[in-house]
Amino acid sequence: DDAAALEPRPPVVTIMGHVDHGKTSLLDAIRHANVVSGEAGGITQHIGAYQVEQNGQKITFIDTPGHAAFTAMRARGAQATDIAILVVAADDSVMPQTIESINHAKAAGVPIIVAINKIDKPSADPQKVRNGLLQHEVFVESMGGETLDVEVSAKTGAGLEKLLEAILLQAEILDLRADPHRTAEGVVIEAKLERGRGSVATVLVQKGTLHPGDIIVAGSEWGRVRALVNDRGENMKEAGPATPVEVLGLQGPPQAGDRFAVVENEAKAREISEYRTRLAREKAVAKQAGSRGSLEQMMSQLQVSGQKEFPLLIKGDVQGSIEAISGALDKLGTDEVRARIIHSGAGGITESDIALAEASNAAIIGFNVRANKQARDLAEREGIEIRYYNIIYDLVDDVKAAMSGLLS
Ligand code: GTP
Ligand code: NA
Ligand code: MG
Repeated sequence: DDAAALEPRPPVVTIMGHVDHGKTSLLDAIRHANVVSGEAGGITQHIGAYQVEQNGQKITFIDTPGHAAFTAMRARGAQATDIAILVVAADDSVMPQTIESINHAKAAGVPIIVAINKIDKPSADPQKVRNGLLQHEVFVESMGGETLDVEVSAKTGAGLEKLLEAILLQAEILDLRADPHRTAEGVVIEAKLERGRGSVATVLVQKGTLHPGDIIVAGSEWGRVRALVNDRGENMKEAGPATPVEVLGLQGPPQAGDRFAVVENEAKAREISEYRTRLAREKAVAKQAGSRGSLEQMMSQLQVSGQKEFPLLIKGDVQGSIEAISGALDKLGTDEVRARIIHSGAGGITESDIALAEASNAAIIGFNVRANKQARDLAEREGIEIRYYNIIYDLVDDVKAAMSGLLS
């Protein structure tokens, strides 16, 4: 980039930490919104992206889920960020996903600010948190190290101003800049199909400024931006560097983590999209050919070891959830039995899903999606089971139970 064209931009801050340590509550308190009460089971399952203003300075926040299953989302969050806020509950201290978050931040080379949360609780022990962090080579300021640490309570609001000041201080040191005048590019944070709105991609603009009417390519999808919507549901005329925004108008939902860029015309967009689609298809075919070989090998082992398979077809609202589910199901496998995902994808359950499940004796799982009428009718006729979930824990528990049933 031309250095002269660079202008100051807001910091992108990712909130990370163990499940239920109060990441979303902290963001709610900062935004004066209330996202947490709208979450199924109080568990964050998608990445949320928001922008707030402190003393006239903007800060972009990305929330991530703390549940063990969401490693990929935490890794992506760390990669798209300038600063990681590591939330540690003072009554629970350092836990497995606290450590995982530290590792993601370190791998991405991103500075950490520690938010020691829930200090309003009688059982809070902030010193224990500091000692715990020390064991994972995070040296906080109050113990002579360089990492800023702030005691906070999402419940009472204590320490929030200090946390925001720490973020702005760290951002100043980083001297974050981008060129807002060039054509826009950035990264897809999450994408889904929404009834009435079509494909909705939450993106983070990293360079340039995105406008309605721009033609973009995101992964192997393309489209003309029909509308840009901010986290408060307002339509925007433009989205500059470090702005999170929902993009409407893509022909299909791209994958979380895909890069997007504005291109000069529709022909170019279509050409790139077709090329990438073809590439992805060739890759998938190659992968399948490879796994066919290993499946045969596995079948022969199967006769020896007697390992049984529990075939599943999984449809979900967003690609990130599907990744998290398959990761969690992978871990359930034992020498005797394992879950085998014969197909997965984002979007509602259709007749072709039922047909595929029927051909492979698979159970169908809908995560935050439903089956359409034709699919429901066909499933009933064929005696195919469809189960619906909106909490990953529940899904995994049920599959685990079903797998042990397969053994007995
Ligand atoms: P995941 O996204 O599921 O990983 O959880 P999270 O880290 O976003 O935690 P969440 O905001 O969902 O909070 C978990 C629980 O802790 C909720 O019941 C909150 O009300 C509670 N909680 C969060 N912050 C505080 C706090 O400062 N004090 C107290 N007492 N409770 C808190
Ligand atoms: Na939670
Ligand atoms: Mg959360």
